[in-house]
Amino acid sequence: MNVDGKHYRTIWLESPGCVRIIDQALLPHEFAFMDLRTPEEMARAIRKMHLRGAGLIGCAAAWGLYLAALRQAEAADFAASMQAEAAALQATRPTAKNLEWALVRMQKALAACAPADRVETARREAQAITDEDADFSRRMGQHGLALMREIAQRKNGQPVNVLTHCNAGWLAFVDHGTALAPVYAAHDDGIPVHVWVDETRPRNQGASLTAWELGHHGVPHTLIPDNAGGHLMQHGLVDIVFVGCDRCTAAGDVANKIGTYLKALAARDNQIPFYAVLPSSTIDWDIADGVRDIVIEERGSEEVRFMTGWDDAANRPATVRICPEKTPAANFGFDVTPARLVTGIITERGIAPASAEGLRNLYADLHP
Ligand code: MRU
Repeated sequence: MNVDGKHYRTIWLESPGCVRIIDQALLPHEFAFMDLRTPEEMARAIRKMHLRGAGLIGCAAAWGLYLAALRQAEAADFAASMQAEAAALQATRPTAKNLEWALVRMQKALAACAPADRVETARREAQAITDEDADFSRRMGQHGLALMREIAQRKNGQPVNVLTHCNAGWLAFVDHGTALAPVYAAHDDGIPVHVWVDETRPRNQGASLTAWELGHHGVPHTLIPDNAGGHLMQHGLVDIVFVGCDRCTAAGDVANKIGTYLKALAARDNQIPFYAVLPSSTIDWDIADGVRDIVIEERGSEEVRFMTGWDDAANRPATVRICPEKTPAANFGFDVTPARLVTGIITERGIAPASAEGLRNLYADLHP
């Protein structure tokens, strides 16, 4: 997507030993890059959320393993050391399926190649995973566009009001994004669109990232506190909800940023369509019960107890505590929305009902 008229992806190979990313920890106040040269630097960047979002951390893990292969291509115990590097990258964040999926795919490619080809094979596979992520996002946008067109026709040219939670835009993937892909596709197609952006406490990915990327693409949007969605839905101000997903079960339960479940409940109570938008790399075919089986990342309590923003007076970022000094806090990163509350799942292959049968029908060749 474009930033000030220039096209960017969120991650790319800058030179043979250097992977470059957009440093999301600095947004929206500063647009800058970060260079990563070792798998340890990549793991740290994922853990500290210099890059984040399900698809992007999958690609980052793939590039992390490429950096590992570059360093250890000659090692006698190459397979074992790749296994250890993959485990370290996997341990950074547990909920998103894409991370594990990308690491398995990289290791398979490496296992099949001759020692002299290790580096080039790792580079090619990481690049293929990255390119595929961008292409799948573009396709999800086209499938979601059909829904946007229907609503626009019904509304006779009035803006289609979308509500989204967290950031499942292009910053969370390589390009286009998932939840925001239909929004960009509709906007670029001339459909009037307006997005309600949940701020998404505690890390505020909605306020700092979704608002930033929509603004740079020229999509009208309004930032709202996380608790406002239900009220907007009751008053007819939301036409459709699009959310991303970090892990989707074979039965269509979707784990996404904490607070998503409450949006789905409010959407159901108000008969508003609620779609999860995700590539097949997010589907965990081995589990069916998301509430029971999806591991929910718990992050540090300081993310709840403190807030960081821009201090206009000092003209620099500032972090402040928002609760009494000794107040404990809990920080569950994600929640699970059961399939029964999901109107449909938009994937790169089309829109599936949120059910075991719906997903299986779409991916019968991969999971017969
Ligand atoms: O903790 P994050 O920012 O990596 O969480 C991922 C997300 O942005 C959301 O859960 C998103 O809606 C799905 S991932 C594209």
